[in-house]
Amino acid sequence: MGETLRVFVAGATGVLGRRLVDELADRGHVVVGLTRDREGDELVAERGGVPRRGDVLDADSLSWAVGDADVVVHAASAVPTERKPDEEAWRYNDRVRQAGARNLTVAAGEAGAHRYVQASVVWAVRKDRGGHVDEFTPPNPDRTTRSAVETERRARAARKFGLDPVVLRTGWLYAPDADHTRQMGRNLLARRFPAVGGGLLGRRCATVSLLHADDAATAFADACEGDEDGTYHVVDDRPVGLPRFLRTFADRLDAPRPPRVPGWLARPFLGRDLVRFLTTGFPTDNDPFREAFGWRPAFPTFEDGLDQICDRWLAHGTLRETPDGYVWADEE
Ligand SMILES: NC(=O)c1ccc[n+]([C@@H]2O[C@H](COP(=O)([O-])OP(=O)(O)OC[C@H]3O[C@@H](n4cnc5c(N)ncnc54)[C@H](OP(=O)(O)O)[C@@H]3O)[C@@H](O)[C@H]2O)c1
Repeated sequence: MGETLRVFVAGATGVLGRRLVDELADRGHVVVGLTRDREGDELVAERGGVPRRGDVLDADSLSWAVGDADVVVHAASAVPTERKPDEEAWRYNDRVRQAGARNLTVAAGEAGAHRYVQASVVWAVRKDRGGHVDEFTPPNPDRTTRSAVETERRARAARKFGLDPVVLRTGWLYAPDADHTRQMGRNLLARRFPAVGGGLLGRRCATVSLLHADDAATAFADACEGDEDGTYHVVDDRPVGLPRFLRTFADRLDAPRPPRVPGWLARPFLGRDLVRFLTTGFPTDNDPFREAFGWRPAFPTFEDGLDQICDRWLAHGTLRETPDGYVWADEE
């Protein structure tokens, strides 16, 4: 085994963060996870981490919480989960990302850490027409990703505090316990999830890069342990058209295939940001990250990931098999 690291994780109770605590503890590192309540303390402790209370918006709380970490990870965010979030919700998310990055890089510098790992999203650089993007594609942010781009800039500026910055832009995360994956499963079963497409008839489909949250965690752990710095795309091995992803998901659930709906028709119900997200692709690849860190996804395609998700849902009783097909447990 390599050197034992002291790693501080902000966002340790989130979909990505709790897996990262697990992964780093399994690899023998000392993991301190930032928490905000008792439930958070338990989540971190159960996974082999040391919970420490604080808030990324409260610089004083961080200098204590970060302690003497070697590596600091910023995986905290507050992306609104409502269908049409208001401006205030987006502003709070902006602060968690941006002010969080500022406070964490300062605290990491004061702690004498040598590495700073920042979570970001691949779709911050998506092209207007949805073509292939890579690490050299210029940012093209909208309201939802402006602060991600600014946060990346702050992360790179962490060099001035003696830190090697690594920015990991992950694909669209999916997981059995991720809110949006669960909403998708439940709504597909209830015939409430259309396949939104571009163009007059909704036939133009967005090709996106996805990532199972378990693979995001191994990627972040590799970035904590590695020597390279820079900005990398962390996605699975095969981009997929969203309608195909939704059809396959529906098939796995024995649900009817979702109808195609054009974006312009869906906009009043879903809002402009979500429609743009669903109709403008961001296909990319993981070659530079693989090469720099030797990482490989355990779920190379979305088909592999969906199998695991449906198995987990069945095992946990989220999905129940009945003579009439699967039902979502709390919709019975
Ligand atoms: N979801 C995606 O599809 C996706 C894709 C690519 C990248 N990402 C990025 O990956 C990162 C993690 O995403 P996720 O899906 O794991 O998010 P998540 O499940 O919503 O978790 C958010 C985490 O941030 C913490 N947090 C929020 N506000 C905080 C504050 N003021 N101070 C301290 N902690 C705070 C939450 O703590 P509490 O539990 O205390 O609320 C929680 O631990 C984010 O940077 C996100 O932008 C997400």
